Amino acid sequence: MANRQKTVYCCSECGEETSNWAGKCPSCGSWNTLVELKLDAPSAGRGGKKLPAPVKPKKVSELDMSAEIRFGTGIGELDRVLGGGAVIGSLVLVGGAPGIGKSTLLLQMCGSQELGCRILYVSGEESERQLKLRCMRLGIDSEDLYVLAETDLDKILSGIDALKPELVIIDSVQTIADAEISSAPGSITQVRECTMRLMRLAKEQGITIFVVGHVNKEGSIAGPKVLEHMVDCVLYFEGEHSTSFRILRAAKNRFGSTNEIGVFEMGQDGLKGVDNPSELLLSGRPENAPGTCVACVMEGSRPILAEVQALVSSAAYNASRRCNGLDYNRAAMLLAVLEKRGGLNVSGCDAYINVIGGLSLDEPAADLATVLAVASSFLDRPLGLDLAAVGEVGLSGEIRSVSMLNQRLAEISRLGFRRCVIPAHVRDEIKKPPELCLLPVKNVGEAIAAVLKRD
Ligand SMILES: Nc1ncnc2c1ncn2[C@@H]1O[C@H](COP(=O)(O)OP(=O)(O)O)[C@@H](O)[C@H]1O
Ligand SMILES: [Mg+2]
Ligand SMILES: [Zn+2]
Repeated sequence: MANRQKTVYCCSECGEETSNWAGKCPSCGSWNTLVELKLDAPSAGRGGKKLPAPVKPKKVSELDMSAEIRFGTGIGELDRVLGGGAVIGSLVLVGGAPGIGKSTLLLQMCGSQELGCRILYVSGEESERQLKLRCMRLGIDSEDLYVLAETDLDKILSGIDALKPELVIIDSVQTIADAEISSAPGSITQVRECTMRLMRLAKEQGITIFVVGHVNKEGSIAGPKVLEHMVDCVLYFEGEHSTSFRILRAAKNRFGSTNEIGVFEMGQDGLKGVDNPSELLLSGRPENAPGTCVACVMEGSRPILAEVQALVSSAAYNASRRCNGLDYNRAAMLLAVLEKRGGLNVSGCDAYINVIGGLSLDEPAADLATVLAVASSFLDRPLGLDLAAVGEVGLSGEIRSVSMLNQRLAEISRLGFRRCVIPAHVRDEIKKPPELCLLPVKNVGEAIAAVLKRD
């Protein structure tokens, strides 16, 4: 009866496990993503088994803290997302759509002078020649950087053993395979097993490992979500291919917060960190156009200004709503509030709401700017380039206070805005930036009257 196998079905999209097969994943609703997986069930009856030699837990006060546990990656924005540098011996998963810039980011990290340690870049996707060309294009010629074009996990591990690097990049987890496992590379069984072995290596030998994982829509290839629970840190690289703007976000971090984002711009010679994301996001705003307003959201400790655009036009047929960068339900709620409490008849209109730069505003503090952008488009009156708005909108149309208002106002003022609509009731005492004129409002009606009234 030893070594009995248990069969489960695992979703390649979200990692959910079920005991029965179904055409549709019960957790995330994807079709045809459940894959059969054989797990070794614990053997029954441990009755007569002897315990191993005594294992002695240590006192937390006796643990060794002398060695530096973090190191800078040489890329400021990456350090920020990791929580102040990479932790030695950790395994970081970097996920993102193909072509978004994962290899570029990690190769640039390998090339940075600041690292000063031996690095191995394993690519299962590109040949040595292609890697060389890529390095030349990015201007990388570090003496400490070694590359290996290989997909067999055992050979990769033996390469690591021979070189003894302190930092290893595996690009990508979906291309490498353990020869002992019969499933194809990229299958759930393979990516899990390979990641498990890499994780063990990281912990046992204190090697920091970055693993690339493609996010894709094909059911047969396992996405990074399947690995999220195993690794120490999960970063997602996002952005739209049509824009050069890229955002690095932590979805999980065992050694830091997941609030911080890293902002990059993709150029000919690779990725560049963006110190002033707001400036980039706001460049090229249309002058004197109705339907645009600037919001300020907090991304971790950093206030970021973003432009919300709205286009409202009378619907020929059924009113349709589209929104990009904003939660659909939130936008629907704001439109309803605007109709009921703001007195604007938007329910019979098509409404399109868009956040510029591919940023997603998932903070209620962006509500007021969204409402004003919609109202401005509906009334066909511009708000002016010097106006920003911060505040949460409640269901009765009231404008509510938001956290860290002073930090937001300081950033708004720093970027040259002269007027800002804010909630009339705020929790903390406001430190008004000298150049900024504040327009406190109690509800949606007052906000519209304050900035969109006809003179
Ligand atoms: N040889 C090249 N010349 C110019 N641009 C390139 C080249 N290789 C990649 N790029 C650009 O860099 C972007 C990111 O590529 P890459 O880092 O390989 O993405 P990922 O590893 O996430 O799939 C691509 O979308 C492409 O525009
Ligand atoms: Mg790549
Ligand atoms: Zn699923």
